Amino acid sequence: MTLLDVDRLSVRHGVMLALDGVRLQVDEGRIVGLIGPNGAGKTTFIDTLTGFTRAADGRITFDGRDLTRAPAHQRSRAGLVRTFQSLELFDDMTVLDNLAVSTRTPSLWGTITDALWPRSDDLTDAHRVLDLLELWPVADRLPGELSNGQRHMVALGRALASRPRLLLLDEPAAGLDPAETRELADTLRRLPSIGTTVLVVDHDMSLIMGVCDIVHVLDFGKVVASGTPEQVRHNPKVIAAYLGRPPAPGERP
Ligand SMILES: Nc1ncnc2c1ncn2[C@@H]1O[C@H](COP(=O)(O)OP(=O)(O)O)[C@@H](O)[C@H]1O
Ligand SMILES: [Mg+2]
Repeated sequence: MTLLDVDRLSVRHGVMLALDGVRLQVDEGRIVGLIGPNGAGKTTFIDTLTGFTRAADGRITFDGRDLTRAPAHQRSRAGLVRTFQSLELFDDMTVLDNLAVSTRTPSLWGTITDALWPRSDDLTDAHRVLDLLELWPVADRLPGELSNGQRHMVALGRALASRPRLLLLDEPAAGLDPAETRELADTLRRLPSIGTTVLVVDHDMSLIMGVCDIVHVLDFGKVVASGTPEQVRHNPKVIAAYLGRPPAPGERP
């Protein structure tokens, strides 16, 4: 089933066309990669899907609903959730509290029943994320006391706490060492089985090639290639996009 259907999406930054007629689909249960040189429009794509940047043209359909003009909070409530390159953790809150504030917005009915029959904080989703990401040993620590890899896991956990249908990751491996990147890859591979489809933007080819079912390549705001990691790796257009010129025989980025 197609979970996300992006049709001829164009986005302007001033006079510049940052995305130019992008067509891209994400099937439920997949891990889809989006790669491309710096400035290709990858972050703009995530910003536009999540409602942080306005589309100039085209359509975004998510789970059968047209969300092209929907405000950001409606999209996250529909299950379209992102992470940021800058992690965006609350430094004065424990890991558990960072996760707890990010759990799903309660339903109207939940809000009414909570008001009538107050209960202790529902930490089920936060605890589930601590289990999934093996963060129990640091649950009571502040983000500043963690390793870089652990902070990245907490940022991922915050996004997962709301049980997203589609998780959009913007360069999750930036600043991670190879061992931390492998751990991230192991975690991402487990997400489809808990109901979260993944769209991941990254420069780290070992991560992209190791976890993605399908990879799309953006260059100057256009999708220039799509295919399995192996197909994309051998595509001359992709090699040229990364090198900035046609490849010599056998040459790879
Ligand atoms: N807020 C903005 N205002 C103006 N130009 C922007 C803005 N954000 C990004 N751009 C430009 O749009 C292009 C795409 O940027 P971006 O989506 O950040 O690319 P990527 O994430 O692939 O590196 C770049 O040329 C960038 O300079
Ligand atoms: Mg970017």
